[in-house]
This record gives sequence, C-alpha cells and structure tokens, in this order.
Amino acid sequence: MLFRSWAQVADDRWPDVARVADHVGVEHLVVTRHALVRQVLTDAVTFRPDNALDAVTPMPVTALRMLAGHRFRLPPTLANNSGASHPAIRTVVADALHPTKVAAQRPWLTALVRGRVARLAAALDAGEPVDLYAELAADLPLLVLARLVDLPDAPVGAVKEFARAALELFWAPLDADRQLALAAEVGRFHRVLRDFAATGDGLAARLRAAGQPPDVVVGALFFLLVAGQETTSQFLTLLLHRLAGEHAVRAGLRAGEIAAADVVEEGLRLEPPIVTWRRVAAVDTTLGGTPVPAGTSIVLWLARAGRDPATVDAPDDFRPGQRGSRRHLAFGAGAHRCVGDVLARMEAAVVVDEAAPLLDGVTVVREPWCPDNLTFRMPDAFVVRRAGRPDPAAPRFTTARVPH
Ligand code: HEM
Repeated sequence: MLFRSWAQVADDRWPDVARVADHVGVEHLVVTRHALVRQVLTDAVTFRPDNALDAVTPMPVTALRMLAGHRFRLPPTLANNSGASHPAIRTVVADALHPTKVAAQRPWLTALVRGRVARLAAALDAGEPVDLYAELAADLPLLVLARLVDLPDAPVGAVKEFARAALELFWAPLDADRQLALAAEVGRFHRVLRDFAATGDGLAARLRAAGQPPDVVVGALFFLLVAGQETTSQFLTLLLHRLAGEHAVRAGLRAGEIAAADVVEEGLRLEPPIVTWRRVAAVDTTLGGTPVPAGTSIVLWLARAGRDPATVDAPDDFRPGQRGSRRHLAFGAGAHRCVGDVLARMEAAVVVDEAAPLLDGVTVVREPWCPDNLTFRMPDAFVVRRAGRPDPAAPRFTTARVPH
C-alpha cells in the first residue's frame, strides 16, 4: 500500500491510524483522517519534520560513497528543519516567492501557455496525438521559478532528470544498482548547485548575506528544484487528466459558471501530487488513542485526508466550490506549510483557464503512469488526440518535447 497509496484513497476500510511495514521491514504509522493529519502537522514539538528527506530505502555503502564523492549533504534547511535556523531560512525563501512577485509573472505565463495551447490545438486538429505532460506541463514550473529565483544555468532537461532522480532515490523502493545510478545523477547535479550556491545571485546571495552556511544554501536550492517545481508539473498533469473526464466541470468553465481557482482547489484535494508526507514522533505520545513511541515514523496520508467525509460534502466527487473543498492538506500545515502554494495555485489556474478547452472532444490515448513511490506521483505522460480522427500508425509528437 505504502508505495501506491493513491490507488487506495477511496477504500473505506482504513482505520484512523494503521501500522504498516515497508519493503525493508520498517514500521510506519499511517494516519488517514483529516483531523489527525492536521494535528500532527501543526504540533511541531511532539511530531518533528526531521525525517522529511530521509531515504525510504536505506542506501548501500556504494551509493553513499558516490554521494560523498560529490560532497553531497542535506543538512536541516527547510522541510526537514526543526531547529532554530528554520524561520530565518524560510523568511528569505518566502520573500522570493511573495504573492506580489508571483502575481507579476501571471501575464508572462499566460502568454506562454496560450502560445503552446494554440500549437497543441493545431496538432490535435491535424489528427496528431499530443502529450500534455511533455509538451505543456513538464517545464512550465521550472521556467516560472527561474524568473523568481536565480538558478544555475543548466538545460531544462538536465534539471528535470536530476529532480526526478532525487524523488526516486529518496522516496521509492529500490535495489542497490538503481540506487547507485540515481546517486550518480543526483550527486553530479548537486555539485553544480554547490558551485552556484557559492557565487550565485538572488536567493543564494541573500542566504549567504544572512549568514547561512554553504550547505544550507545548497540545501535550499536543492529543495526548490526538486520539490518546488517538480510537484507543480506533476500536479498540472494530474489535474488535466482528471479534467479530461470531468465534462460538466469543463462545461461550467466554458460558460463562466465555474472559476479556475475553484477547479484548482478540487484538483489539489482529489489529485495531490504529494500523496503522503512524513513526521517523526519526538516523544512517547498517543494519536487517536493509539500509543506512539518516540522515534516512530509517521506517514501522513494527505491524499486520503482530502477525502475525509468529516470535512467535505461529497468527498469523491469533483465539485468546484463545494463546502470543504479548500480544507485539503495538499500543502501541509503549520510551521512548514508549503511556501510555494501561491505560485503553484497561480500556475495551475493559468493552465486551467488556457488549456481546459484543449480537452473538449479528445480521447485519452495514454493515461499517466505513476511509478511506485511513497510520496510523489511522478506521472510520466498524458497523451490525447481528437476523437473521430483516424488512429495514427505510430505515435508522433509535436515540436518542443521536453525530455524527462
Ligand atoms: C502543487 C504543488 C505543490 C505541492 C502539492 C506542495 C506541497 C508541499 C508540502 C506537502 C510540503 C510540506 C509541508 C509540511 O511539512 O507541512 C511543502 C513544503 C514546501 N514547499 Fe511545496 N508544494 C508545491 C509546490 C511548491 C512550489 C512551487 C514551491 C516553490 C517554488 C514549493 C516550495 C516548498 C518549500 C520551500 C517547502 C518547505 C517549507 C518549510 O519547511 O518551511 N512548493 N510543499
């Protein structure tokens, strides 16, 4: 269950908390109810975020040596930082992602998405299949992030490969050979980040000026590049896929009766790209009546919490604006709540506004496939074509396909 939990979100046999052993025999306490997930997220004294970036498959010595060779270190920085340095680091990052700076990017992003949608619409009209992940969603969040935060000058494809490798290395069940290959990929790019952290402008310079040590600057850039942009491109893909089957919602959007922002909230509630997030019990405690010894790994089932009948009227239905729609925990809660939420919401609203019409009259050629992962969905593709067009002999793709 742990590594494909999105497939079981609607299974009502889950208790409020459940002990589940993972593939290497480590027991986790899986928390399924909205109120309990929220309780854990907002009580940073009893439940700490220190294990947020721990590898779920322990790394063999070969992979550790590979990472050490690249001087890879992930000290407590943002999501995994329960220490005194967290608020100051968070303030600098939050300033780079301030709502007014995000809003200023909207016209630029709208024009970019509109241009892409026009090209994709022409391809669909010509009977071609289009991959809405590769050709629309994959690189958008990174392109926007690069306008808000100075980043190393690296090809988009290289950043995406690094980010996906990191999500796999830290959150997937793996064998030793795969871990070594991923460690090589992650270590290589981490070195690029380390060089940039020492000299780069913008966020890196502000963190240095605030007295943050080099490892923290690297850690902040690492987290932004890995979780910050990858999550959003995953979400855009999952949301478009969901909307392809939500005909009434698209009709409401077309008629101006449903707002894109409300569609985004239902999407975050029902199709969150981050399905679980971890905490660790700092002291012996109880949760929902279950004893929790200090050191227990707590897996917070964010995707399930979004469907809790105690918080939302029609938990499994996509009904923009319904009561409880915005009470999801897709961005976490408490001191570590996502600082990129305004940015992610803006990007998703632009994509819904501009790209939802592309889905009218299409059939799905290829559903998104998601690999086993504790936390991230990581859809690999979402291919559609106009219904009624002849089947192409072989899948062809339009231009500007982003490698991933
Ligand atoms: C749909 C897209 C996104 C989702 C679902 C998401 C979700 C999350 C979640 C679940 C957490 C952990 C919260 C907690 O521990 O309570 C988090 C933290 C964080 N996210 Fe996001 N995120 C998204 C997009 C972004 C973006 C676009 C950025 C920045 C570019 C970003 C930056 C961060 C940072 C820096 C943290 C750590 C905050 C801290 O520890 O103080 N996220 N996000």
